[in-house]
Amino acid sequence: IRQLVKQRRPRGFPPGPTPLPMIGNILSLATEPHVYMKSLDLGGISTVILNGYDAIKECLYHQSEVFADRPSLPLFQKMTKMGGLLNCKYGRGWMEHHKLAVNCFRFFGSGQRMFGRISEECLFFLHAVEQHQGKPFNPKHLVTNAVSNITNLIIFGQRFTYDDSDFQHMIEIFSENVELAASGWAFLYNAFPWMEYVPFGKHQKLFRNANKVYDFLLQIIKRFSQDRVPQSPQHYIDAYLDEMEQSATDKATSFSQDNLIFSVGELIIAGTETTTNCLRWAMLYMALYPRIQEKVQMEIDCILNGRPPALEDKQRMPYVEAVLHEVLRFCNVVPLGIFRATSQDAVVRGYTIPRGTMVITNLYSVHFDEKYWSDPSIFCPERFLDCNGKFVRHEAFLPFSIGKRHCLGEQLARLEMFLFFTTLLQRFHLQFPEGFIPSLSPKLGMTLQPRSYSICKFELQYF
Ligand code: HEM
Repeated sequence: IRQLVKQRRPRGFPPGPTPLPMIGNILSLATEPHVYMKSLDLGGISTVILNGYDAIKECLYHQSEVFADRPSLPLFQKMTKMGGLLNCKYGRGWMEHHKLAVNCFRFFGSGQRMFGRISEECLFFLHAVEQHQGKPFNPKHLVTNAVSNITNLIIFGQRFTYDDSDFQHMIEIFSENVELAASGWAFLYNAFPWMEYVPFGKHQKLFRNANKVYDFLLQIIKRFSQDRVPQSPQHYIDAYLDEMEQSATDKATSFSQDNLIFSVGELIIAGTETTTNCLRWAMLYMALYPRIQEKVQMEIDCILNGRPPALEDKQRMPYVEAVLHEVLRFCNVVPLGIFRATSQDAVVRGYTIPRGTMVITNLYSVHFDEKYWSDPSIFCPERFLDCNGKFVRHEAFLPFSIGKRHCLGEQLARLEMFLFFTTLLQRFHLQFPEGFIPSLSPKLGMTLQPRSYSICKFELQYF
C-alpha cells in the first residue's frame, strides 16, 4: 500500500504526466517510445526525458561527466552486472574498457587496411545479392551478416561465412533481445524485479536468450584465443587477455572473463543492429524514391567511372553523403539513445535532477526539432547540400549522440555505410516487387528497424 501512495516525483523535478499507481507511466512509454516527449515515472524509476537539441547539448555536452552514467536498472544488472562497456557504470571499469576498445578500433579497425577489408566484405555481399537473380528477397539477413563481419574482424580477426548458422542464430536471438529490452515486460521487470520468479512472460525469454548468447560467446572466445601470442595482439580478444594478465595482481581491476564476454557481446550487437538497420532503411528509401536513387547512381558513375570506391571518394561524393545523413536523421535507428543516468546531482534550466536519475535522450526529437530543421517530416537529402551542391553539416544532427558516452563506432559505421551503399548501388537498381509498397512505420524496440520487406535488384546495364 505504501508503494501505491508513494509520491515519487523528487522536489524541483521537471514536469510530466500524472503517474498511475504502481506502474507510473510505463504503458505510455511502451506504446510510442520514440514520440513520447515528457518526463516520466517508469514504475518507481524517476526518469527525465531530454527533448530537442538545446536540452541534449546542455546536458550531454556542457555537463558531460554529470550525465555520463548508466542507470542501475534490474535488467542491466541481471544482464551485465553493470560491467562490460556499453552498459557499464561510469568509473574505472568504463575508463579501462573504453580506452581498450578505442585503441583496438584505431589499431585494427581504421585506415587503409580496414578499408580494404570492408571492400572485400562488400564483394561477398554483392555476390550473395546476385544469387537471387532479380527475384524478390528480404535483404535483412544478408545485410546483418555482412555488417556483423566488420565488427567480427576487429573482435576475432576473422569473418564468419554467410552460412554459419550458429553465428547467425546468436545474432538473431541477441537482436531479438534488443527488441525485448524495450517491451512492456522489460519495463515491468525493472519496476518489479521479483518478476524474475514469475515463470512466464517475455522477460524470461530475454534471460534465456542472453544465457545462450553468453554461452556461445564464451565458446568462440576460447576458440579464437587458442593461437594467441602474449603481447602480440591480433584482435580485441588478444588485447583484452593481455590486459587481464597485466592486471592480474590488481584487485580493483575491471578486466575479467565476465567483462570480456559482456563487452564482446555489446560491441557485436551495438555495431550490427544499428548499421544494419540504417542500410536496410537506406535501401528501402532508394526503392521508394527512384529519382533520388538515380541521382545517387549518377554521382557514383561520374566519380567512380566503374572502378571500386576508394577512401578519398567519400569526400568527393556529396550527394551520397547527403542521402546517408538524411537516412540517419529521418529514420532514427536509436531513437532514444542508450539510457543514461546522472553521476551526481545536477541542475538544468532551474530543475533539480538528483544523482542516479535515469535520463532518456530523445534523439528523435533532435532530428525533428523545428527550431533547427525546416519541414523535418519530409525526406529530403538536399537539406545537407548548399546551393553549389557541396555537403553541409548540421548542428542538430546527433544520431551517434554526444558527450562522454557518445558512440564509439561512429567512424567505422560511417565508413561501412558509405562502402556498402555505394558498391550496392553502383551495381544494382533497387525496386519493390510489382504492386508492393512496404510499410514505412518502424518496428519498435531499442532500435527502430523497418518491417520486413522484399526487394528486387536489377543489374545495371554497363556491367
Ligand atoms: C553507443 C548510435 C554504430 C559501438 C551509441 C549510442 C548511440 C549510437 C546513439 C548511445 C550513446 C549515448 O549513450 O549517448 C549508433 C549508430 C550506429 C552505431 C546510429 C550506426 C549507424 C556502432 C558501431 C559500433 C558501435 C559500428 C562498434 C562496432 C557503440 C558502443 C557504444 C555506442 C560501444 C557505447 C559507448 C559508451 O557507453 O561509452 N551508439 N552506433 N556503434 N555505440 Fe554506436
